Amino acid sequence: MLTKRLAAIYELVEENSVVYDVGSDHAFLPCALVKNKKCPHAFAGDNKKGPLENAKKNIRAQGLEDQIEAILYDGIDERIEADTIVLSGLGYYTVEKILDRADLKKYKEIIVQVNQDVMKLRKYISDHGYAITKEKVVYDGFYYEIVAFSAHLKGHYSLKECYLGPLLMKEKDVVYLDSLRQKKKILEDIFAKVAVKDSVRLTYYEWLKEILGQ
Ligand SMILES: C[S@@+](CC[C@H](N)C(=O)[O-])C[C@H]1O[C@@H](n2cnc3c(N)ncnc32)[C@H](O)[C@@H]1O
Repeated sequence: MLTKRLAAIYELVEENSVVYDVGSDHAFLPCALVKNKKCPHAFAGDNKKGPLENAKKNIRAQGLEDQIEAILYDGIDERIEADTIVLSGLGYYTVEKILDRADLKKYKEIIVQVNQDVMKLRKYISDHGYAITKEKVVYDGFYYEIVAFSAHLKGHYSLKECYLGPLLMKEKDVVYLDSLRQKKKILEDIFAKVAVKDSVRLTYYEWLKEILGQ
């Protein structure tokens, strides 16, 4: 059974694609994708032996050794032929380093869920001229934002779009709007404690008020 966060990532994976889950740890995502026949083949990569052993144990326990390969590698091993890269549960700067070292054009789609700094992730995507293809917010104790992009499509995003999510701000689904209300409340709590409001936070606050209509 996947957590709500991993289930949301699962939903964003294209049917029949070969997935390379980088920083897989337990390999829950590749196991679910292959077991449910959403993907014919997958790779579970990790740069540490302990997590990789976890992955191997779970793959073996489900009898999926023929369809999921566990790879010990720091970042993306470009010898692996895959359609979709998943990077989830990692910090933004780890993801940035991994993306910087890879030829992203080798893959159809890259799905990323960073623990913090999702605005920096969208800015990175925009600065490289890549296009955001899918976005999703899910609540699983925290609000998690998942962003998929393609290095084959061109995109450019304003700072406002990087903050709010270019696709999310158009779709405005219920969980997304709840996450924005929480962001707005956090800013209000900060403003209540300081004598002078910093201009960056004030800009974010204006964007939140505008989209929430309050
Ligand atoms: C918190 S776990 C996330 C597991 C899973 N992706 C998820 O979303 O639940 C992060 C994993 O990434 C691995 N990791 C960290 N840096 C990495 C790197 N540069 N290359 C590959 N794996 C890495 C860690 O060893 C750890 O197992």
